Amino acid sequence: MAKYLIEGGNKLSGRVAISGNKNAALPCLAACLLTSQEVVLHNIPQILDVVSSLDILKELGAQVDFQGNTARINCKAIKHHDLPESLANKLRASLLFVGPLLARFGKVEFPHPGGCVIGKRGIDLHLSGFQQLGYTTHENNFAYKITRNRVVPSEVHIFLDIATVTGTENLILASVIRDGKTVIRNAAQEPHVVDLCRMLTLMGAKIYGIGTSTLTIEGVKELSGTEFTISPDHIEFGTYAIAAGLTGGEVELVGCQTVDSDPVIWPMMKMGLSITPQDESIKVTGKKFTAISPKLVTGVWPGFPTDLMSAMIVLSTQAKGVSLLHDWIFESRMFFVDKLITMGANITIADPHRVIVSGPSRLQGKKLESPDLRAGMALVLAALVAEGQSVIDRAELIERGYEDVVVKLASLGAKIQRIDN
Ligand code: EPZ
Repeated sequence: MAKYLIEGGNKLSGRVAISGNKNAALPCLAACLLTSQEVVLHNIPQILDVVSSLDILKELGAQVDFQGNTARINCKAIKHHDLPESLANKLRASLLFVGPLLARFGKVEFPHPGGCVIGKRGIDLHLSGFQQLGYTTHENNFAYKITRNRVVPSEVHIFLDIATVTGTENLILASVIRDGKTVIRNAAQEPHVVDLCRMLTLMGAKIYGIGTSTLTIEGVKELSGTEFTISPDHIEFGTYAIAAGLTGGEVELVGCQTVDSDPVIWPMMKMGLSITPQDESIKVTGKKFTAISPKLVTGVWPGFPTDLMSAMIVLSTQAKGVSLLHDWIFESRMFFVDKLITMGANITIADPHRVIVSGPSRLQGKKLESPDLRAGMALVLAALVAEGQSVIDRAELIERGYEDVVVKLASLGAKIQRIDN
Protein backbone atom coordinates (compact mmCIF):
# COMPACT_ATOMS: atom_id res chain seq x y z
CA MET A 1 0.00 0.00 0.00
CA ALA A 2 1.24 3.55 -0.74
CA LYS A 3 1.75 6.21 1.92
CA TYR A 4 1.84 9.99 2.15
CA LEU A 5 4.71 11.88 3.81
CA ILE A 6 3.47 15.28 5.02
CA GLU A 7 5.46 18.09 6.67
CA GLY A 8 2.98 20.27 8.55
CA GLY A 9 2.94 24.02 9.16
CA ASN A 10 2.44 25.56 5.69
CA LYS A 11 -0.46 27.92 4.99
CA LEU A 12 -2.35 26.81 1.87
CA SER A 13 -2.84 29.41 -0.83
CA GLY A 14 -3.69 29.49 -4.52
CA ARG A 15 -6.39 27.95 -6.75
CA VAL A 16 -7.54 24.37 -6.92
CA ALA A 17 -10.13 22.71 -9.18
CA ILE A 18 -12.91 20.74 -7.51
CA SER A 19 -13.58 17.41 -9.26
CA GLY A 20 -16.85 15.72 -10.15
CA ASN A 21 -18.96 14.20 -7.37
CA LYS A 22 -17.81 10.59 -6.69
CA ASN A 23 -21.19 9.62 -5.30
CA ALA A 24 -22.95 10.92 -8.42
CA ALA A 25 -20.51 9.31 -10.86
CA LEU A 26 -21.08 5.84 -9.36
CA PRO A 27 -24.90 5.60 -9.79
CA CYS A 28 -24.67 7.35 -13.20
CA LEU A 29 -22.18 4.71 -14.38
CA ALA A 30 -24.59 1.98 -13.23
CA ALA A 31 -27.44 3.72 -15.10
CA CYS A 32 -25.62 3.07 -18.41
CA LEU A 33 -26.85 -0.54 -18.14
CA LEU A 34 -30.38 0.73 -18.79
CA THR A 35 -29.76 1.48 -22.47
CA SER A 36 -28.16 -0.21 -25.47
CA GLN A 37 -27.06 3.15 -26.84
CA GLU A 38 -23.87 5.05 -26.05
CA VAL A 39 -23.73 7.16 -22.91
CA VAL A 40 -21.13 9.92 -22.51
CA LEU A 41 -20.41 11.14 -18.97
CA HIS A 42 -18.27 14.24 -18.34
CA ASN A 43 -16.54 15.46 -15.13
CA ILE A 44 -16.00 11.89 -13.96
CA PRO A 45 -13.21 11.96 -11.33
CA GLN A 46 -10.18 9.72 -11.88
CA ILE A 47 -10.48 7.82 -8.57
CA LEU A 48 -10.25 4.16 -7.61
CA ASP A 49 -13.99 3.72 -6.98
CA VAL A 50 -14.71 4.90 -10.54
CA VAL A 51 -12.08 2.50 -11.91
CA SER A 52 -13.67 -0.36 -9.93
CA SER A 53 -17.14 0.52 -11.28
CA LEU A 54 -15.84 0.67 -14.85
CA ASP A 55 -14.18 -2.72 -14.31
CA ILE A 56 -17.55 -4.16 -13.26
CA LEU A 57 -19.17 -2.75 -16.42
CA LYS A 58 -16.38 -4.25 -18.57
CA GLU A 59 -16.74 -7.62 -16.78
CA LEU A 60 -20.46 -7.55 -17.61
CA GLY A 61 -19.61 -7.00 -21.29
CA ALA A 62 -19.86 -3.21 -21.74
CA GLN A 63 -17.56 -1.23 -24.03
CA VAL A 64 -15.77 1.35 -21.87
CA ASP A 65 -13.52 4.24 -22.92
CA PHE A 66 -12.31 6.47 -20.05
CA GLN A 67 -10.09 9.36 -21.19
CA GLY A 68 -9.34 12.29 -18.90
CA ASN A 69 -12.60 12.95 -17.08
CA THR A 70 -14.92 11.66 -19.84
CA ALA A 71 -16.32 8.12 -19.89
CA ARG A 72 -17.94 6.72 -23.06
CA ILE A 73 -19.92 3.58 -22.27
CA ASN A 74 -21.98 1.25 -24.46
CA CYS A 75 -23.89 -1.58 -22.79
CA LYS A 76 -25.32 -3.04 -26.02
CA ALA A 77 -23.40 -6.30 -25.65
CA ILE A 78 -23.93 -7.02 -21.96
CA LYS A 79 -23.24 -10.74 -21.69
CA HIS A 80 -24.52 -11.69 -18.25
CA HIS A 81 -26.18 -10.37 -15.18
CA ASP A 82 -24.22 -11.57 -12.16
CA LEU A 83 -21.86 -9.25 -10.29
CA PRO A 84 -18.29 -10.61 -10.04
CA GLU A 85 -17.42 -11.13 -6.35
CA SER A 86 -13.79 -10.07 -6.79
CA LEU A 87 -14.95 -6.64 -7.94
CA ALA A 88 -18.30 -6.20 -6.17
CA ASN A 89 -16.87 -6.51 -2.67
CA LYS A 90 -14.41 -3.68 -3.32
CA LEU A 91 -17.01 -0.96 -2.93
CA ARG A 92 -20.48 -0.29 -1.56
CA ALA A 93 -21.50 1.27 -4.88
CA SER A 94 -21.37 -2.16 -6.57
CA LEU A 95 -24.84 -2.48 -5.05
CA LEU A 96 -26.02 0.15 -7.55
CA PHE A 97 -25.67 -2.30 -10.43
CA VAL A 98 -28.43 -4.49 -8.96
CA GLY A 99 -31.35 -2.17 -9.81
CA PRO A 100 -30.45 -1.74 -13.50
CA LEU A 101 -29.61 -5.44 -13.94
CA LEU A 102 -33.03 -6.34 -12.51
CA ALA A 103 -34.70 -3.85 -14.87
CA ARG A 104 -32.78 -5.31 -17.83
CA PHE A 105 -32.75 -9.06 -17.09
CA GLY A 106 -35.30 -9.59 -14.30
CA LYS A 107 -32.69 -11.40 -12.18
CA VAL A 108 -29.28 -10.90 -10.60
CA GLU A 109 -26.82 -12.61 -8.24
CA PHE A 110 -24.36 -10.57 -6.18
CA PRO A 111 -22.19 -10.70 -3.04
CA HIS A 112 -22.68 -8.43 -0.04
CA PRO A 113 -21.09 -5.13 -1.13
CA GLY A 114 -17.78 -3.83 0.24
CA GLY A 115 -17.07 -0.22 1.15
CA CYS A 116 -15.83 1.88 4.05
CA VAL A 117 -16.05 0.25 7.48
CA ILE A 118 -18.02 3.05 9.10
CA GLY A 119 -20.86 0.95 10.35
CA LYS A 120 -23.12 -2.05 9.72
CA ARG A 121 -24.42 -0.59 6.42
CA GLY A 122 -27.32 -2.94 5.88
CA ILE A 123 -29.09 -3.46 2.57
CA ASP A 124 -32.47 -4.53 3.96
CA LEU A 125 -34.22 -1.45 2.56
CA HIS A 126 -32.89 -2.19 -0.92
CA LEU A 127 -34.17 -5.78 -0.69
CA SER A 128 -37.59 -4.88 0.75
CA GLY A 129 -38.02 -2.26 -2.00
CA PHE A 130 -37.24 -4.86 -4.66
CA GLN A 131 -39.75 -7.21 -3.06
CA GLN A 132 -42.43 -4.50 -3.28
CA LEU A 133 -41.54 -4.09 -6.97
CA GLY A 134 -42.38 -7.77 -7.57
CA TYR A 135 -39.06 -9.58 -7.02
CA THR A 136 -38.18 -12.52 -4.80
CA THR A 137 -34.93 -12.14 -2.88
CA HIS A 138 -32.80 -14.96 -1.45
CA GLU A 139 -29.77 -14.53 0.81
CA ASN A 140 -27.37 -17.34 1.58
CA ASN A 141 -24.15 -16.69 3.49
CA PHE A 142 -23.87 -13.08 2.32
CA ALA A 143 -24.62 -13.90 -1.31
CA TYR A 144 -27.89 -12.68 -2.79
CA LYS A 145 -30.09 -13.94 -5.63
CA ILE A 146 -33.06 -11.88 -6.85
CA THR A 147 -35.63 -12.94 -9.47
CA ARG A 148 -38.72 -11.28 -10.90
CA ASN A 149 -42.08 -12.88 -10.01
CA ARG A 150 -44.58 -13.80 -12.70
CA VAL A 151 -47.03 -11.22 -11.42
CA VAL A 152 -45.59 -7.70 -11.02
CA PRO A 153 -47.63 -4.94 -9.35
CA SER A 154 -48.47 -2.02 -11.67
CA GLU A 155 -48.53 0.60 -8.88
CA VAL A 156 -46.08 0.44 -5.97
CA HIS A 157 -45.74 2.76 -2.99
CA ILE A 158 -42.44 2.40 -1.09
CA PHE A 159 -41.82 4.18 2.22
CA LEU A 160 -38.15 4.15 3.24
CA ASP A 161 -37.85 4.14 7.05
CA ILE A 162 -34.31 5.51 6.54
CA ALA A 163 -33.65 8.02 3.76
CA THR A 164 -31.00 5.68 2.38
CA VAL A 165 -28.94 7.22 -0.44
CA THR A 166 -27.97 4.12 -2.43
CA GLY A 167 -31.31 2.56 -1.46
CA THR A 168 -33.14 5.46 -3.11
CA GLU A 169 -30.83 5.32 -6.13
CA ASN A 170 -31.17 1.54 -6.52
CA LEU A 171 -34.97 1.67 -6.42
CA ILE A 172 -35.04 4.53 -8.95
CA LEU A 173 -32.79 2.45 -11.24
CA ALA A 174 -35.11 -0.56 -10.85
CA SER A 175 -38.27 1.50 -11.54
CA VAL A 176 -37.57 3.74 -14.54
CA ILE A 177 -38.06 0.87 -17.04
CA ARG A 178 -41.12 -1.09 -16.01
CA ASP A 179 -44.84 -1.36 -16.79
CA GLY A 180 -46.12 0.64 -13.87
CA LYS A 181 -45.83 3.57 -11.48
CA THR A 182 -43.58 3.71 -8.43
CA VAL A 183 -43.78 6.22 -5.59
CA ILE A 184 -40.82 6.42 -3.21
CA ARG A 185 -41.42 8.36 0.03
CA ASN A 186 -38.73 9.52 2.45
CA ALA A 187 -36.36 9.34 -0.52
CA ALA A 188 -32.82 10.69 -0.10
CA GLN A 189 -32.38 14.22 -1.57
CA GLU A 190 -28.57 14.37 -1.75
CA PRO A 191 -27.09 16.21 -4.78
CA HIS A 192 -25.98 12.87 -6.22
CA VAL A 193 -29.56 11.53 -6.18
CA VAL A 194 -30.58 14.66 -8.09
CA ASP A 195 -27.76 14.16 -10.63
CA LEU A 196 -28.89 10.56 -11.23
CA CYS A 197 -32.50 11.65 -11.76
CA ARG A 198 -31.43 14.42 -14.16
CA MET A 199 -29.35 11.98 -16.20
CA LEU A 200 -32.19 9.42 -16.33
CA THR A 201 -34.64 12.15 -17.39
CA LEU A 202 -32.34 13.04 -20.30
CA MET A 203 -32.44 9.32 -21.24
CA GLY A 204 -36.25 9.46 -21.39
CA ALA A 205 -37.24 8.46 -17.85
CA LYS A 206 -40.32 10.04 -16.28
CA ILE A 207 -39.39 11.08 -12.72
CA TYR A 208 -41.35 13.70 -10.79
CA GLY A 209 -40.42 15.39 -7.50
CA ILE A 210 -36.67 15.40 -8.24
CA GLY A 211 -34.81 16.89 -5.27
CA THR A 212 -37.68 16.24 -2.87
CA SER A 213 -38.37 13.40 -0.47
CA THR A 214 -41.22 12.01 -2.60
CA LEU A 215 -40.31 10.67 -6.03
CA THR A 216 -42.96 9.50 -8.50
CA ILE A 217 -41.68 7.38 -11.38
CA GLU A 218 -43.83 6.51 -14.40
CA GLY A 219 -42.09 3.47 -15.89
CA VAL A 220 -41.27 3.57 -19.62
CA LYS A 221 -40.46 0.78 -22.12
CA GLU A 222 -36.87 1.79 -22.86
CA LEU A 223 -34.30 4.52 -22.40
CA SER A 224 -31.97 6.13 -24.93
CA GLY A 225 -28.32 7.07 -24.63
CA THR A 226 -27.35 10.56 -23.49
CA GLU A 227 -24.50 12.94 -22.72
CA PHE A 228 -24.39 14.23 -19.14
CA THR A 229 -22.00 16.23 -16.93
CA ILE A 230 -21.63 15.21 -13.29
CA SER A 231 -21.94 18.05 -10.73
CA PRO A 232 -18.94 19.15 -8.64
CA ASP A 233 -18.22 17.19 -5.47
CA HIS A 234 -19.63 19.09 -2.47
CA ILE A 235 -17.66 16.84 -0.09
CA GLU A 236 -14.35 17.58 -1.82
CA PHE A 237 -15.34 21.28 -1.86
CA GLY A 238 -15.93 21.17 1.91
CA THR A 239 -12.72 19.24 2.49
CA TYR A 240 -10.51 21.84 0.77
CA ALA A 241 -12.42 24.66 2.48
CA ILE A 242 -11.54 23.07 5.83
CA ALA A 243 -7.92 22.64 4.71
CA ALA A 244 -7.74 26.40 3.97
CA GLY A 245 -9.32 27.20 7.35
CA LEU A 246 -7.08 24.84 9.31
CA THR A 247 -3.86 26.28 7.87
CA GLY A 248 -5.01 29.92 8.08
CA GLY A 249 -4.52 30.23 4.34
CA GLU A 250 -6.46 31.67 1.42
CA VAL A 251 -7.66 29.28 -1.29
CA GLU A 252 -9.86 29.73 -4.38
CA LEU A 253 -11.94 26.66 -5.15
CA VAL A 254 -12.58 26.54 -8.91
CA GLY A 255 -15.38 24.84 -10.85
CA CYS A 256 -17.77 24.54 -7.93
CA GLN A 257 -20.03 27.57 -8.35
CA THR A 258 -22.98 25.23 -8.95
CA VAL A 259 -22.39 23.36 -5.68
CA ASP A 260 -25.28 23.72 -3.23
CA SER A 261 -22.91 24.85 -0.49
CA ASP A 262 -25.38 25.99 2.23
CA PRO A 263 -25.65 22.60 4.02
CA VAL A 264 -21.84 22.26 3.89
CA ILE A 265 -20.41 25.66 4.86
CA TRP A 266 -22.64 26.97 7.67
CA PRO A 267 -20.64 25.35 10.56
CA MET A 268 -17.35 26.50 9.02
CA MET A 269 -18.62 30.07 8.73
CA LYS A 270 -19.82 29.98 12.36
CA MET A 271 -16.22 29.06 13.22
CA GLY A 272 -14.92 32.16 11.48
CA LEU A 273 -13.97 30.90 8.03
CA SER A 274 -14.68 33.46 5.32
CA ILE A 275 -16.32 31.73 2.32
CA THR A 276 -17.27 34.09 -0.52
CA PRO A 277 -18.37 33.37 -4.11
CA GLN A 278 -16.20 35.00 -6.82
CA ASP A 279 -16.80 35.19 -10.57
CA GLU A 280 -15.24 31.81 -11.32
CA SER A 281 -14.52 30.36 -7.91
CA ILE A 282 -15.38 30.32 -4.22
CA LYS A 283 -12.74 31.96 -2.01
CA VAL A 284 -12.04 30.52 1.44
CA THR A 285 -9.83 32.29 3.99
CA GLY A 286 -9.00 30.93 7.41
CA LYS A 287 -7.17 33.91 8.90
CA LYS A 288 -9.89 34.65 11.45
CA PHE A 289 -10.83 31.01 12.08
CA THR A 290 -10.94 30.51 15.85
CA ALA A 291 -14.56 30.40 17.03
CA ILE A 292 -16.12 27.10 17.97
CA SER A 293 -19.23 25.49 16.57
CA PRO A 294 -20.66 24.36 19.93
CA LYS A 295 -22.68 21.48 18.51
CA LEU A 296 -22.67 19.81 15.11
CA VAL A 297 -25.06 17.00 14.18
CA THR A 298 -25.06 15.21 10.82
CA GLY A 299 -28.28 14.90 8.86
CA VAL A 300 -29.72 13.56 5.67
CA TRP A 301 -29.59 16.27 2.95
CA PRO A 302 -30.02 19.19 3.34
CA GLY A 303 -28.59 18.39 6.78
CA PHE A 304 -24.83 18.55 7.39
CA PRO A 305 -23.31 15.66 5.40
CA THR A 306 -21.86 12.76 7.39
CA ASP A 307 -18.97 12.46 4.91
CA LEU A 308 -17.57 15.78 6.16
CA MET A 309 -17.85 14.95 9.87
CA SER A 310 -14.34 13.46 10.12
CA ALA A 311 -12.80 16.63 8.64
CA MET A 312 -14.92 18.87 10.90
CA ILE A 313 -13.60 17.01 13.95
CA VAL A 314 -10.07 17.96 12.87
CA LEU A 315 -11.13 21.61 12.37
CA SER A 316 -12.69 21.62 15.85
CA THR A 317 -9.37 20.54 17.41
CA GLN A 318 -7.94 23.90 16.32
CA ALA A 319 -10.89 26.07 17.41
CA LYS A 320 -11.22 27.74 20.81
CA GLY A 321 -13.60 26.05 23.22
CA VAL A 322 -15.52 22.81 23.62
CA SER A 323 -17.77 21.32 20.93
CA LEU A 324 -19.96 18.23 20.61
CA LEU A 325 -19.89 16.46 17.25
CA HIS A 326 -22.60 13.87 16.64
CA ASP A 327 -22.93 11.49 13.69
CA TRP A 328 -26.07 9.43 14.30
CA ILE A 329 -25.92 7.86 10.83
CA PHE A 330 -22.85 5.63 11.13
CA GLU A 331 -21.87 3.89 14.33
CA SER A 332 -18.17 3.66 13.48
CA ARG A 333 -17.56 7.09 11.94
CA MET A 334 -15.81 8.34 15.10
CA PHE A 335 -13.45 5.43 15.62
CA PHE A 336 -10.53 7.18 13.93
CA VAL A 337 -10.24 9.88 16.62
CA ASP A 338 -7.79 7.76 18.62
CA LYS A 339 -5.25 8.67 15.94
CA LEU A 340 -5.93 12.38 16.43
CA ILE A 341 -5.52 11.88 20.19
CA THR A 342 -2.05 10.37 19.63
CA MET A 343 -1.21 13.53 17.66
CA GLY A 344 -2.14 15.63 20.70
CA ALA A 345 -5.84 16.40 20.15
CA ASN A 346 -8.06 16.71 23.23
CA ILE A 347 -11.04 14.49 22.32
CA THR A 348 -13.40 12.45 24.49
CA ILE A 349 -15.41 9.67 22.83
CA ALA A 350 -18.81 10.02 24.53
CA ASP A 351 -20.30 7.04 22.64
CA PRO A 352 -19.91 5.43 19.18
CA HIS A 353 -21.82 8.34 17.63
CA ARG A 354 -20.53 11.39 19.59
CA VAL A 355 -17.22 13.01 20.48
CA ILE A 356 -16.43 16.08 22.62
CA VAL A 357 -13.52 18.16 21.34
CA SER A 358 -11.65 20.80 23.37
CA GLY A 359 -9.41 23.16 21.45
CA PRO A 360 -7.14 24.53 20.39
CA SER A 361 -4.52 21.79 20.76
CA ARG A 362 -1.07 21.61 19.20
CA LEU A 363 -0.82 18.54 17.00
CA GLN A 364 2.42 16.61 16.51
CA GLY A 365 3.20 14.70 13.32
CA LYS A 366 2.87 10.93 13.74
CA LYS A 367 2.97 7.65 11.78
CA LEU A 368 -0.67 6.89 11.06
CA GLU A 369 -2.81 4.50 9.03
CA SER A 370 -5.89 5.52 7.08
CA PRO A 371 -8.87 3.51 8.45
CA ASP A 372 -11.34 4.56 5.73
CA LEU A 373 -11.80 7.11 2.97
CA ARG A 374 -13.06 10.13 4.89
CA ALA A 375 -11.10 9.44 8.10
CA GLY A 376 -7.98 9.04 5.96
CA MET A 377 -8.47 12.45 4.38
CA ALA A 378 -9.14 13.92 7.84
CA LEU A 379 -5.74 12.58 8.96
CA VAL A 380 -4.17 14.32 5.94
CA LEU A 381 -5.78 17.58 7.10
CA ALA A 382 -4.49 17.03 10.64
CA ALA A 383 -0.99 16.37 9.28
CA LEU A 384 -1.10 19.67 7.34
CA VAL A 385 -1.48 21.61 10.59
CA ALA A 386 0.67 19.35 12.82
CA GLU A 387 4.27 20.16 13.81
CA GLY A 388 6.81 17.93 12.11
CA GLN A 389 6.38 15.03 9.71
CA SER A 390 3.44 12.64 9.48
CA VAL A 391 3.31 9.38 7.53
CA ILE A 392 -0.15 8.23 6.47
CA ASP A 393 -0.30 4.63 5.31
CA ARG A 394 -2.93 2.93 3.12
CA ALA A 395 -3.15 6.06 0.94
CA GLU A 396 -5.13 4.10 -1.66
CA LEU A 397 -8.15 4.25 0.67
CA ILE A 398 -8.02 8.06 0.32
CA GLU A 399 -7.54 7.81 -3.44
CA ARG A 400 -10.79 5.82 -3.66
CA GLY A 401 -12.64 9.12 -3.36
CA TYR A 402 -10.29 12.09 -3.84
CA GLU A 403 -8.78 12.85 -7.26
CA ASP A 404 -5.11 13.95 -7.42
CA VAL A 405 -4.80 14.59 -3.68
CA VAL A 406 -1.03 15.04 -3.69
CA VAL A 407 -0.97 17.20 -6.83
CA LYS A 408 -3.78 19.43 -5.58
CA LEU A 409 -2.42 19.93 -2.05
CA ALA A 410 1.17 20.43 -3.27
CA SER A 411 -0.09 23.07 -5.76
CA LEU A 412 -1.52 24.95 -2.76
CA GLY A 413 1.84 24.88 -0.96
CA ALA A 414 1.50 21.74 1.18
CA LYS A 415 4.66 19.70 1.72
CA ILE A 416 3.30 16.30 0.70
CA GLN A 417 4.69 13.38 -1.28
CA ARG A 418 3.46 9.90 -2.15
CA ILE A 419 5.68 6.88 -1.50
CA ASP A 420 4.83 3.50 -3.01
CA ASN A 421 5.60 0.75 -0.48
C1 EPZ B 1 -24.04 6.70 0.74
O1 EPZ B 1 -23.83 5.47 1.39
C2 EPZ B 1 -22.67 7.22 0.37
N1 EPZ B 1 -22.02 6.28 -0.55
C3 EPZ B 1 -21.84 7.38 1.64
O2 EPZ B 1 -20.60 7.95 1.28
C4 EPZ B 1 -22.55 8.34 2.58
O3 EPZ B 1 -21.83 8.41 3.79
C5 EPZ B 1 -23.98 7.84 2.86
O4 EPZ B 1 -24.68 7.65 1.61
C6 EPZ B 1 -24.80 8.81 3.70
O5 EPZ B 1 -24.86 10.06 3.04
C7 EPZ B 1 -22.37 6.31 -1.84
O6 EPZ B 1 -23.22 7.09 -2.26
C8 EPZ B 1 -21.67 5.36 -2.75
P1 EPZ B 1 -27.17 5.03 3.39
P2 EPZ B 1 -25.06 4.48 1.70
O7 EPZ B 1 -27.79 3.88 2.71
O8 EPZ B 1 -26.05 4.56 0.62
C9 EPZ B 1 -28.48 2.36 7.02
C10 EPZ B 1 -18.29 8.11 1.11
O9 EPZ B 1 -17.45 8.34 1.98
N2 EPZ B 1 -29.11 1.49 6.01
O10 EPZ B 1 -27.76 6.38 3.24
O11 EPZ B 1 -24.51 3.18 2.06
C11 EPZ B 1 -26.96 2.35 6.90
O12 EPZ B 1 -26.43 1.26 7.64
C12 EPZ B 1 -19.42 7.15 1.40
O13 EPZ B 1 -18.33 8.65 -0.04
C13 EPZ B 1 -29.78 0.35 6.43
O14 EPZ B 1 -29.83 0.04 7.61
O15 EPZ B 1 -25.67 5.16 2.97
C14 EPZ B 1 -26.59 3.68 7.49
O16 EPZ B 1 -26.55 3.57 8.89
C15 EPZ B 1 -19.28 6.51 2.77
N3 EPZ B 1 -30.36 -0.44 5.50
C16 EPZ B 1 -27.76 4.59 7.10
O17 EPZ B 1 -28.84 3.73 6.75
C17 EPZ B 1 -30.32 -0.14 4.17
O18 EPZ B 1 -30.90 -0.90 3.36
C18 EPZ B 1 -27.47 5.47 5.92
O19 EPZ B 1 -27.01 4.63 4.92
C19 EPZ B 1 -29.63 1.02 3.76
C20 EPZ B 1 -29.04 1.83 4.69
